[in-house]
Amino acid sequence: MALLFEPLSIRSIQFKNRIVVSPMCEYSSEDGFANDWHLVHLGSRAVGGAGLIIAEATAVSPEGRITPDDLGIWKDAHIDFLKRITAFIEAHGSVPGIQLAHAGRKASHSSPWKGNRPLSQNEGGWTTLAPSAVAYKETDPLPRKMSTEDIEQLKNDFTNATLRAMQAGFKVIELHAAHGYLLNEFLSPLSNHRTDDYGGCFENRVRLLLEVVDAVRSVLTETLPLFVRISASEWVEGGWSIEDSVQLAKLLKNKAVDMIDCSSGGNISTQKITVKPLYQVPFAERIKKEAGIATAAVGMITTAEECEEILQRGQADLVIMARQLLRDPYFPLHAAKKLNTDIPWPVQYERAKLK
Ligand SMILES: Cc1cc2nc3c(=O)[nH]c(=O)nc-3n(C[C@H](O)[C@H](O)[C@H](O)COP(=O)(O)O)c2cc1C
Repeated sequence: MALLFEPLSIRSIQFKNRIVVSPMCEYSSEDGFANDWHLVHLGSRAVGGAGLIIAEATAVSPEGRITPDDLGIWKDAHIDFLKRITAFIEAHGSVPGIQLAHAGRKASHSSPWKGNRPLSQNEGGWTTLAPSAVAYKETDPLPRKMSTEDIEQLKNDFTNATLRAMQAGFKVIELHAAHGYLLNEFLSPLSNHRTDDYGGCFENRVRLLLEVVDAVRSVLTETLPLFVRISASEWVEGGWSIEDSVQLAKLLKNKAVDMIDCSSGGNISTQKITVKPLYQVPFAERIKKEAGIATAAVGMITTAEECEEILQRGQADLVIMARQLLRDPYFPLHAAKKLNTDIPWPVQYERAKLK
């Protein structure tokens, strides 16, 4: 049997294989609510056989949305429809996960197909929050520097979002600390210019993330896994580096984080990245080996053979895919055939099973 299709257990949760649907913003919500689009989008990937399906960056507060169309989990009313989705995913043998997020200074934008630009107040935009009053791009409105009260509120928002996510039936929580969103902004010396306990030295810049992890872990059932997505490098001279990520991963491991999801970039608009197949896999490998924590590899992974090789070489414990799973929701079923592994198909589809 291919390693890709061997089950993996973390705490009380068993993933039937090592293929994960990456969180992908759908910009298809009104007032944060999930709807039929989310059910079909996430549900088809459960039918397609992925082991874990992580729902998109889901805002812990209204001002934490990238766009007014983002999915949210800041009020109890959001729970009901999410429950329907998690029940469907579980009924098809996959594990439902959710990425909890605050977009920080990258909030208050229009969706990609509505222009992807900052929204003014009269277009429904709002003042964004950040560690410092430094914009992502020179042309963006300045964010407001977060006060100590804002920081306390943020921790409460993540805690309440975690409680709601559990009520909605999610079995894995992933914290979004990557791609230049709020938690990532605190980590980097290039976006965090604070002079209080949350800025300056490495220990101060990682403080907020560690406190959010503590807050989330304090309410998250012990038997459920906690993942953290980081930008392992920000691809800028003098910015957050893979060495910083290894140090951070060691601290997160001590805080009972189970998995580091190793992405990169997105925090500094002048970043220089050479994107090519598997380009972020070395980050997952280094963090796994040097920090001794399980990792997930993501980014430009598109074939069954690549997935299997990452696992066989011990570079990561899970393989996360985004665009390939948009192109082919049935990728896991096809990959099993490619890797000569027999896995069950949904009974409704059995007559179409590749022999
Ligand atoms: C449509 C789309 C939406 C995305 N939304 C998110 C998101 O909500 N959270 C996140 O961490 N990454 C997001 N990403 C990044 C992906 O999760 C993934 O890290 C990236 O696309 C690289 O993987 P890939 O080469 O397999 O697509 C998104 C990517 C796409 C294509």
